[in-house]
Amino acid sequence: MDARWDTATPYYSRSGLHIEIYDTMTLNSFNDDVSFLIDQAREAGGPVLELASGTGRVAWPMAEAGFEVVGLDLNPGMIAAAEAKRSNYPSAVSDRVRYVQGDMTGFKLDQRFRYVYITYRSFQALLTPEAQQECLRCVWQHLEPGGRLVVNVFDPKLSRCDKGAEGPPEQQTVRNPVTGLEVEQRSIERVNDPLSQTLSMLWVLEEKDAEGNVVREECERLDLRWTYRFEMSYLLELCGFEVLAEYSDFNRSPPAYAEEQVWVAQKPCAD
Ligand SMILES: C[S@@+](CC[C@H](N)C(=O)[O-])C[C@H]1O[C@@H](n2cnc3c(N)ncnc32)[C@H](O)[C@@H]1O
Repeated sequence: MDARWDTATPYYSRSGLHIEIYDTMTLNSFNDDVSFLIDQAREAGGPVLELASGTGRVAWPMAEAGFEVVGLDLNPGMIAAAEAKRSNYPSAVSDRVRYVQGDMTGFKLDQRFRYVYITYRSFQALLTPEAQQECLRCVWQHLEPGGRLVVNVFDPKLSRCDKGAEGPPEQQTVRNPVTGLEVEQRSIERVNDPLSQTLSMLWVLEEKDAEGNVVREECERLDLRWTYRFEMSYLLELCGFEVLAEYSDFNRSPPAYAEEQVWVAQKPCAD
């Protein structure tokens, strides 16, 4: 095991390089969800609640599309990154957005919503079936009857989930918009536990000056739980939802192995 596991901090738990480059990295790898999630809001109506709202990558465009949005996230560093964008928008848009710190497994807000979404696999940060259920039950309580829930997780590729399976090394270099310097992010090790359906990844981020010298280094640990398609379907049902649709991407492709799971569910109309 790499010795850096001992010093790595949980992903998103503190401000740093990984948050500074978050939007740039995501733009390169995962951004098709925004227009899909806004289309869902047009069907379901507002107000809208985003759980695990991060840097406001989706919440801000949602507000630009005319919806009142509450973004809830556990980590103050992510909320600060979302709030830092507020001055980019006219007050008619920025007045529609509120960010609150909270845990998606146990929150109590003073309003109900027509639409709740949890995107970019954030639901997978919940590492036990109990935590997943607590989250879905909280969502149920905050939805109006007939209200909609969209949840995205990845569909597990079994060859990458076995004990000892490493998967292809992941590496990306992007420019840090805060400092203007290049940041290389790479995964060093991955540990799978097929029994609990969890994986842990050790990430190293290095910021380099123009000469290629490392000027800042961070080690982050990312823990996720994978959920199988039928497990997810039963979980939604168990927590009182009706599944309206299931896709394998945000272009509404049919379910497919080892792609994404994009679930559209509804709280039944009778409370
Ligand atoms: C991959 S990021 C996604 C951010 C945003 N939804 C997006 O699509 O860009 C995962 C987010 O989940 C948040 N998170 C993790 N566990 C959480 C929890 N229990 N409650 C609320 N937020 C959580 C992290 O702080 C982080 O902002």
